[in-house]
Amino acid sequence: MEFITVTPNARPQVALIQLNRPKELNALNLQLMLEIRDALRELDDNDKVRVIVLTGNERAFAAGADIKQMAGRTAIDMLIVDQFSTWDQIRKTRKPLIAAVSGFALGGGCELAMTCDMIVASETAQFGQPEIRIGTMPGAGGTQRLTRAVGKARAMEMVLTGRPISAHEAERHGLVNRVVPVGQYLEEAFRLAASIAEMSPVAARLAKESVNRAFETHLDEGLHFERKNFYLTFASEDQKEGMAAFVEKRKPEFKGR
Ligand code: HXC
Repeated sequence: MEFITVTPNARPQVALIQLNRPKELNALNLQLMLEIRDALRELDDNDKVRVIVLTGNERAFAAGADIKQMAGRTAIDMLIVDQFSTWDQIRKTRKPLIAAVSGFALGGGCELAMTCDMIVASETAQFGQPEIRIGTMPGAGGTQRLTRAVGKARAMEMVLTGRPISAHEAERHGLVNRVVPVGQYLEEAFRLAASIAEMSPVAARLAKESVNRAFETHLDEGLHFERKNFYLTFASEDQKEGMAAFVEKRKPEFKGR
């Protein structure tokens, strides 16, 4: 891996992927995105990992797709490169994925954070879709995910003016889960990850899938999907263990079976 570092056991059952192109503010070139995809695929298959945290550094989560790499491309070059199949694979990560964001989360950087399941932000984080300022528009889900997260009026303003919003604004509008002082954002993300890692990984996977379905379908079909996954948890040892532990007044021990 050239542009990221991967720590499968950063905390018990919690893995960390850190973007590592600091001089370019973690601009997302094609190679970096492939590395994230490969790392997620491996961590998704690693039984010792239950939750994954994705982060950058204090100054930048990621300042967007690599403009220098894209600048001279034609539409057909972009079509042939087909970078979004990488993004689609990232989106299909089964395990809970938390973005720990500080500094710039712009363009593709904001889109990458929104591809994660939750966002923990530092007070210095800023989220924006500035593509319009360089004559283009969001391409990795920004117009869709931002609109669902913050509503049409705000998303429209951010996408059409390119103006970023602060971490606190993002929290108020439901884009991020919580905002903490800059020295604490990674620890806070680990804390959130640890609290999920204690749960049944089977239930977590089915629940994540079900929440995501809310964005992809109408209510009736979404409820049907949820119900099936709910029934499926009753086929797991973890459900038997979780409910037995409750009755016996002890802490459950989930095995992911
Ligand atoms: C390539 C980038 C970059 C980017 C920063 N750099 N962002 N290189 N692609 N997206 C590089 C700069 O060229 C510079 O390199 C170094 O990182 C430091 O950046 P500075 O601009 O000197 O820092 P600063 O003055 O602090 O300004 C920070 C900034 C600014 C406000 C974030 O860098 C900026 O506006 N960046 C572009 C943001 C953007 O437009 N993102 C959307 C991209 S399009 P040198 O070599 O000069 O030191 C996009 C499409 C997504 O994301 C859809 C497909 C996935």
